Amino acid sequence: MKSDLIIAYRLLRKKFRSGIFSTEFYQAFSYVEEKAFFKNLIFGVLRKQEYLDWVINSLLKKKDIPPSIRTILRIGTYQLLFTNKPSYSIVNETVELVEKKSFKGLVNAILRKISKIGYTEPKELYLKYSHPKWLIEYWKKFLPLDYIYKILEYNQYPLKTTARVNKRKIDRDKLKIENIFPTPHSPVGIYFEKIEENPWKLDKYINGYITYQSESSQIIPLLVDFEKDELVFDACAAPGGKATHILELCDVNLVINDVEKQKIKILENQFKRLNLRPKKILNFDAQKITLKDKFDKIFIDAPCSSLGIARRNPEVLRRQKKENFKKLSEIQINIISNLWKYLKKHGIMIYSTCTVTIEENTNTVKKWKPFAEFVDIRERLEKFGIKYVWDGYGTLFYPDEILTPFYVSILRKIKE
Ligand SMILES: C[S@@+](CC[C@H](N)C(=O)[O-])C[C@H]1O[C@@H](n2cnc3c(N)ncnc32)[C@H](O)[C@@H]1O
Repeated sequence: MKSDLIIAYRLLRKKFRSGIFSTEFYQAFSYVEEKAFFKNLIFGVLRKQEYLDWVINSLLKKKDIPPSIRTILRIGTYQLLFTNKPSYSIVNETVELVEKKSFKGLVNAILRKISKIGYTEPKELYLKYSHPKWLIEYWKKFLPLDYIYKILEYNQYPLKTTARVNKRKIDRDKLKIENIFPTPHSPVGIYFEKIEENPWKLDKYINGYITYQSESSQIIPLLVDFEKDELVFDACAAPGGKATHILELCDVNLVINDVEKQKIKILENQFKRLNLRPKKILNFDAQKITLKDKFDKIFIDAPCSSLGIARRNPEVLRRQKKENFKKLSEIQINIISNLWKYLKKHGIMIYSTCTVTIEENTNTVKKWKPFAEFVDIRERLEKFGIKYVWDGYGTLFYPDEILTPFYVSILRKIKE
């Protein structure tokens, strides 16, 4: 148990970024026995950060403590308030993490106080739901209040692992894997009630029956009608979730691209694993790429601030800043502008993000109002049972038990 705590502490200090499936995370897992404890601890501390700091600060005379001590206090406080472990062992084990002798007394005293006081209900929304205060204020400017409550509520709980079933190999209801259930919205989705082994080692994954992918992501290609042999471009394709789905759905001529060189190998492996063949794999910046063809369909699953995936990686909420939204929207606008000329007249562009900002969603796509007709996808979403906010250009999915927030807008080109 002590080694679990040390690993958790080191990972939290490093603030690992690539989420639950990162190699670093699984390497760490291979050292520990109590995986569930370890996972709950890391994500719990990240998820409750604002609340934990509020509790800790209320007991600190000098709020300015070294980051290592703050991390240790968060680990201890989280366990005291949100787990059933006996307080004395939490306090003792946490104090042992402190390397600087001069801080051992302080950590010990604070944790003891917290164990006596217990959980205190805060009044303010940002503390109750542990989200950055500025972010809630920002969301209030453009989102319905019930949407904000939904996102705050669902961000309190870990997201279940989801996957897409490869229809070319098997129907969802014939697939046999322990602890899986059909997803409520995607007709090709499954979710794992619990997952006990390394998901990358599951034979149904290795042999191409399933692809790990969020349920929202699965919905995007399902909003489009493909025709055999038409030309489709996926501009920001890695790790290939939507690109492989497109080829599972229809034999189109699919050209895919991603700016990051190291992700090209991942893309190639995904297509190989699923026994699918794209026409070409490119490695360019979509803001500047030049293409030979004009395409019937262009997918832009844009690089974004990823606020919609906070349930999978709560750290994203603390990393993002408002300034980033504008910067990212500039990149997104550049990508659409550059690719617009490679879209055939009446061709469609599918723009999507996994974020909840007005800059990167509504404000980005509405710039194409003079040149495009925005396809009304509301009815299609209703068929999938998805609740959404419609902004006149696209839709933002409401989060629910399995579905995470996602924005999608489909533009039909009417003018160059
Ligand atoms: C949201 S992810 C795409 C996910 C992918 N479509 C899927 O479904 O698996 C965004 C991708 O855009 C890539 N990217 C970022 N900036 C880019 C650019 N300027 N041109 C092309 N790709 C870019 C990133 O490397 C990243 O893989």
